[in-house]
Amino acid sequence: MKTISFKTLGCRLNLYETDALASKFREKGFVTDGDFENSNAEIFVINTCTITNQSDKKSREYINRAIRKGSLVVVTGCMAEQYAKKYFSNNTNVIVVDNKHKNRIFDIVEAHLGGEFSAVENFDGDVFGFEAAKETFHTRSIVKIQDGCNNFCSYCIVPYVRGRAVSRPSEDILKNIKTELEYGFKEIVLTGVNISKYNYEGISFEDLIKKILEIDSDFRLRIASIEPDDFSDSFVELFKNPKLAPHIHLCLQSGSNSVLKRMHRHYTSEDFLEIVEKFRKIIPDFNFTTDIIVGLPGETDEDFADTLKIAKKICFGHIHAFKYSRRSGTLADKMDNQTDEKIKNQRSKILRDLSEKLSAEYLQSFIGKRQTLLTETIENDGFIYGYGENYVRIKMKTFDGVKANEFYSVKILKVENDVLIGQMI
Ligand code: 5AD
Ligand code: SF4
Repeated sequence: MKTISFKTLGCRLNLYETDALASKFREKGFVTDGDFENSNAEIFVINTCTITNQSDKKSREYINRAIRKGSLVVVTGCMAEQYAKKYFSNNTNVIVVDNKHKNRIFDIVEAHLGGEFSAVENFDGDVFGFEAAKETFHTRSIVKIQDGCNNFCSYCIVPYVRGRAVSRPSEDILKNIKTELEYGFKEIVLTGVNISKYNYEGISFEDLIKKILEIDSDFRLRIASIEPDDFSDSFVELFKNPKLAPHIHLCLQSGSNSVLKRMHRHYTSEDFLEIVEKFRKIIPDFNFTTDIIVGLPGETDEDFADTLKIAKKICFGHIHAFKYSRRSGTLADKMDNQTDEKIKNQRSKILRDLSEKLSAEYLQSFIGKRQTLLTETIENDGFIYGYGENYVRIKMKTFDGVKANEFYSVKILKVENDVLIGQMI
């Protein structure tokens, strides 16, 4: 039996695709392993990311380490799409698989091991051609509903490496989710590049969510990352359903209207606030987490101050702070006034500190409230850990019969080291 090890960088979409690939290899008799550091596998799959320079660098480091460790290395994902062919095409132990053919990695590896390998392009690829994963490297089950993006934000490489927006047939998504629920998963996370633009033969994102919520099973649905959009009242109302987790990762990117304009984002900070208020009117403690980029070319101190101001007003549960990184081929790469690295570092530090402060404030607001904890791991400190519906980390004392991957109603007693302490009700 051969062992194959997986390393995933970047977004949830990559996590989903890795889970599906690993599941396929397992089904075909391979031993799979998600622990890259300690792995002695013969085969490595590095699912790369190219969103920033840093992601490229990390991806390259993992590829080089895998080349030293294993006899066959498959490099896939967005960095493969951009650079890997150029860097690794002379190494016969490395196969570079672009995003379109990622779903065929099992067949490609099998052919290679059998000595019948032909070019990756000769395999039929399908960005939705992944089967439901029986086991994953985490508790929640990620389900891909969409791929690609047509927005072309001025800083972003994604539309060039994942291509234009395409939506997965709704019946496939429902089937995928039902299979995952049968496998025992209790939380489904919908993912894609720009999921609110989902539209398959007239079925909108809102229609899709309604259909998923109708599935008769005890589960929770989470919407991962989403772009600020014109969310209708009926869409917001869907969150009254306890099956739909009151949390979205709503990408702000900047709080300055002039920066947003140069980012080619089609909303103002006022529009963003309006969306937040609309949700919080229905669910006051609705969790908004976000991505913010600091240091877009020409970003001034005033622009950055606007970002801090809106972030405080919203009290994000978490801010993922990105330092702007030049991506060749994008519009922002050609802009004048590229921001000094020192200023980017300063702003990013200020934003990360603010994120910690806001996150602590947000967690404090749960004391005395109820959450439904989905348990994940039992640690040897005598506690079981997991997340509540608002995507807040909770721990609870273990007891006889306590189980991982189970829902428990808990009352929040206090906050300790960024974790809520819950007591079973
Ligand atoms: N530099 C820095 N951050 C970026 N992102 C996308 N492109 C860049 C870039 N060139 C961030 C955005 C996006 C997240 C996935 O990555 O904040 O939401
Ligand atoms: Fe990139 Fe903008 Fe598309 Fe998000 S919406 S993937 S930031 S181009």
